[in-house]
Amino acid sequence: MLSNKKIAVLGVGKIGGTLVSSLLKNKIVPAENLLGSTRHSANHEKISSQFGIKLFSNNAEMVKLANIIILAVKPQNMKQALAEIKDSITPNHLMITLAAATSTRFVEQLLKEGIPVIRAMPNTPCLVNEGMTVLCPGRFSGPEHLKMAKQIFSSFGRVEILDNEDLMDAVTALSGSGPGYIYIMIESLAEGGVKAGLPRDLATTLAAQSMLGASKMVLETGEHPAKLKDSVTTPAGVTMDGIMELEDGGIRVTLIKAISKAAERSREISQ
Ligand SMILES: NC(=O)c1ccc[n+]([C@@H]2O[C@H](COP(=O)([O-])OP(=O)(O)OC[C@H]3O[C@@H](n4cnc5c(N)ncnc54)[C@H](OP(=O)(O)O)[C@@H]3O)[C@@H](O)[C@H]2O)c1
Repeated sequence: MLSNKKIAVLGVGKIGGTLVSSLLKNKIVPAENLLGSTRHSANHEKISSQFGIKLFSNNAEMVKLANIIILAVKPQNMKQALAEIKDSITPNHLMITLAAATSTRFVEQLLKEGIPVIRAMPNTPCLVNEGMTVLCPGRFSGPEHLKMAKQIFSSFGRVEILDNEDLMDAVTALSGSGPGYIYIMIESLAEGGVKAGLPRDLATTLAAQSMLGASKMVLETGEHPAKLKDSVTTPAGVTMDGIMELEDGGIRVTLIKAISKAAERSREISQ
């Protein structure tokens, strides 16, 4: 479905660059069907030699050549970017916006009436094909648009679809920001390994692979995490002592509060 589509990434920064890299690596579109832009043309040569795609300084010109536009600018640059493309984008395009805390309605209102918009919240593990993306359709996007967006993002990870856009702040706080929390957990587990005498590299591998393995157990067995946890806690065994320390440190409440606070911040920015 995407082989004859041209995809323009408006804002080839961190997440935009991750998407370009993944689309190419997974052969979703050939480099000649991928276009990109940044605000400063000083970056163009580097990006173009890294990915082999055509870079534009003029967003309007780029949009005219594309079928799907992935908007990957910071929320504070949205108004400017949308003003630049307003006269070039038509209802035949599909606009996928990645900006956190920015509703489809906000984007739709800054464009002409009837432009199909889908909001997507991916995360950076898209780079290693383990991304988590949540898609939320706007007022003018139909099943065929959702299908195209799903095809793009499922090529580098899991995709879920959410109809209630109010929940996108919670999604941002959980899976959008999630890798940030997980890196801290891996780093801390590894430090524990170092404290117990392991070399740092080995400790980091053990921590990260255990995190990956446990995650796969949850996703692939469909078992409740509590049941899986129970299955590794032998009576009077080692794990139970570790769990007691985690509970004593308030790990559950800390994590719940982290998501709740981040969701609150996302809601605050949205407004
Ligand atoms: N990073 C993540 O993990 C992640 C995950 C999900 C969603 N998001 C969302 O993705 C968006 C981008 O985040 P990021 O971390 O990738 O930011 P970033 O690294 O700063 O990238 C933003 C890019 O947008 C470009 N840009 C700004 N205004 C532009 C314009 N008018 N025309 C063309 N390009 C323009 C910038 O160009 P210059 O460099 O030349 O200024 C830069 O390349 C944000 O809205 C964020 O909420 C990010």
